[in-house]
Amino acid sequence: MSRVVFPESFVWGVATSAFQIEGGAAADGRGESIWDRFAATPGKVSDGSDGRVACDHYHRYADDVALMQRLGVRAYRFSVAWPRVLPEGRGTPNARGLDFYDRLVDALLAAGIAPFVTLYHWDLPQALQEAGGWPERGTAEAFIPYADAVTRRLGDRVARWITHNEPWCIATLGHEEGHHAPGLREPALALRAAHHVLLSHGWAVDVIRRNAPGAQAGIVLNLVPTEPLNPSEAADVDATRWFDGTFNRWYLDPLFRGAYPADAVADRVARGHLGSAELPFVRAGDLAAISCATDFLGVNYYNRNVMRGPTRAGGAPEAVPMAPASQLTDMGWEVWPRGLRDLLLRLRRDYAPPAIFITENGAAYADGPGADGRVRDPRRVAYLRGHLAAVHEALTAGVPVAGYFHWSLLDNFEWAHGYTKRFGLVWVDYPTQRRVLKDSAEWYREVITSRSLPADEPFPRSP
Ligand code: GCO
Repeated sequence: MSRVVFPESFVWGVATSAFQIEGGAAADGRGESIWDRFAATPGKVSDGSDGRVACDHYHRYADDVALMQRLGVRAYRFSVAWPRVLPEGRGTPNARGLDFYDRLVDALLAAGIAPFVTLYHWDLPQALQEAGGWPERGTAEAFIPYADAVTRRLGDRVARWITHNEPWCIATLGHEEGHHAPGLREPALALRAAHHVLLSHGWAVDVIRRNAPGAQAGIVLNLVPTEPLNPSEAADVDATRWFDGTFNRWYLDPLFRGAYPADAVADRVARGHLGSAELPFVRAGDLAAISCATDFLGVNYYNRNVMRGPTRAGGAPEAVPMAPASQLTDMGWEVWPRGLRDLLLRLRRDYAPPAIFITENGAAYADGPGADGRVRDPRRVAYLRGHLAAVHEALTAGVPVAGYFHWSLLDNFEWAHGYTKRFGLVWVDYPTQRRVLKDSAEWYREVITSRSLPADEPFPRSP
């Protein structure tokens, strides 16, 4: 098998988000976010935890930058907490909140690490939620002065900007399924939220262009490649179309084609999520703003879906579990690297983004330190190897993949799962905040250094 070698220009990174690692929940004037409120609501987070301390990155950021240097990463994707910058969501920017991100960006640049900044990774100021949250167009309007304050402060040093992380999670998990903040279960609200998140993306790109001339801007979508259980079964094929429409194309089409997918709109009407194909929350000019030119698409990939038609009259299409428990991550997700290659090939074929960054890819495995203090996580090494090989296949086929960010640098607060799921290349002992590089961190470092995948042998090589 020919040696897998990545281009010199390929960007190697790690990703995190503010609420999941920062802690410092009330430090320097930070306001309450919807995730502070959600985590404080009994029963919402599986281990009853919250983000008040998390990985204490707010105070330990310099040590964590040093960890990234040890890893050899060239880029770091992190998010800015809106409640640090505008504690009530609107008004006068909180200078001390912005100061933290100033310090972090300067530390990264001094370490030769490029900052990739996500403006919104789910931690909406609670005050805006109380004014209606993302289902209200006013929240999209409030996003603009926030984006302006951050890009004015950091735009001279940050060259890659991400407006939003995963609109589907913001809209559906937060407003339809209720598993995420603000914990609502109203499909019609979810569609309004999705639209206003996309609209604020389009408006924010203009702000980025103005305040960070020459910088690149994009959005991050979590996308799930989907296939029919039986390709010759019409019900399975339509179930695949349905899922792809409501999950993937509901976001890709407005962003890249300037229109919501008609078949998915019809599905929503049929399900009563919409009164008619006339989307009441769309105003003239909205889709032109949403489909503005961007420089890259961020893709978060974790798993595929295999769909079959309803198994009972009036039932819904179903995702079919395809892997035995032994091949699932601690999140219950199948390990399926081929899905990443297939997804990338589809994106190039159907949407032709100018560039793609894999902005998240990773696995939760609980491996912790052994008696010798070493964290052996061979499943994460295997996961990384498989998915990087899939990225390379797509690259070789001509997909413009510009970089890969592993999720995540640190074990961290995994939303409704609290601290029970460990995604980090670095193990975190939460009571002491001690960090330990896992074997996978050493493996990733060797990949970055060599721009290739180490030979398939026990890793790290025992001395
Ligand atoms: C997401 C979020 C991350 C998660 C990660 C693991 O993609 O859901 O961006 O915050 O922690 O994906 O679930």
